Amino acid sequence: MAHPRVDAIVEQARAAVAAAQSSSELEAVRVGVLGRQGSLTQLLRSLGSLAPEERPLVGAAANEAKRALEGLLDARLAAASEAERQADRSRRRLDLTLPGRRPPKGSFHPLTRVHDEIVAIFAGLGFSVAEGPEIETDYHNFEALNIPRDHPARDMQDTFYLSESTLLRTHTSPVQIRAMLAQKPPVRIIVPGKVYRRDVVDMTHSPMFHQVEGLAVDHGITMADLKGTLELFAREMFGPRSRIRFRPSFFPFTEPSAEVDVVCFLCHGDGCRLCKEGGWLEILGCGMVHPRVLENVGYDPEELTGWAFGMGIERIAMLKYGIDDLRLFFENDLRFLEQFA
Ligand code: FA5
Ligand code: MG
Repeated sequence: MAHPRVDAIVEQARAAVAAAQSSSELEAVRVGVLGRQGSLTQLLRSLGSLAPEERPLVGAAANEAKRALEGLLDARLAAASEAERQADRSRRRLDLTLPGRRPPKGSFHPLTRVHDEIVAIFAGLGFSVAEGPEIETDYHNFEALNIPRDHPARDMQDTFYLSESTLLRTHTSPVQIRAMLAQKPPVRIIVPGKVYRRDVVDMTHSPMFHQVEGLAVDHGITMADLKGTLELFAREMFGPRSRIRFRPSFFPFTEPSAEVDVVCFLCHGDGCRLCKEGGWLEILGCGMVHPRVLENVGYDPEELTGWAFGMGIERIAMLKYGIDDLRLFFENDLRFLEQFA
């Protein structure tokens, strides 16, 4: 059963199938012949316009050709798709000789690293870690520490008050009171934690920062013990040739009192904008525990002496890593943090 008009279409289609290079080209051939606008479809649709005696001949030939071409195209399409899948797979085959790709690794925040190092240094000296609440009472934060009502530290300018009698602790010193109320002497503790102040943000100040309090109370503890301990701490933290100085100062809860400075790493003591031209950066306040503080917790100041310090973790991290702006610690910029991996 053949007809010249059908034969022409079939011949053309077979040639196109033979020439097709890919499944998409075969698909194009299928659409061109068997699609809604395809040549064979058009022919079948136009049967009505043929002479009545031609109609069955062309119709039968066209239907047979349609089945044959469908079969041919299905087979070729299946083969071409399979070949394409194979090629794709072999292109993507693993090259086992390539070097491995390292998965990204997290790192500790520089403040965490310095915190851990401070704790390790004092743990080595026999100090244990204590903690206290960030929401404190006026009594623990000020009153028991011999900070009188009219002391500037109590000013609304400096303290975040939550109520008449509660506040965000402005230093870790209230934990001195809590620890001494909770245990008998001797005491050797360090107290790391967050503290809050209404300070204006600048290169060395943040309204939330971290301190580590230190407290040693026992029989016969002296200021020389304090100096020796802090000098040892500075050598461990900043290296054997680091330069620190003790500067007389005042705290209501210590007598005598001092502050400790480290040479500014930016200008090496010449004075610059970081150290506000002073050449030194303050890292801590310290002193001999005031007898009235010992009395407030029921310790006998005739029998016991002690020293205490409170150091700023951000300041120590700045000095240790040469970071000239404290705000970098709180911006969480990965380009900064990744340097401490
Ligand atoms: C105190 O807070 C006293 N409680 C320290 C103390 C403890 C003295 C025990 C005696 C006995 P001061 O306000 O100076 O002191 O703060 C201590 C340290 O915290 C400073 O030396 C500095 O390193 C750091 N610091 C203070 N304010 C800020 C701030 N806004 N941002 C970052 N660090 C700060
Ligand atoms: Mg100070």
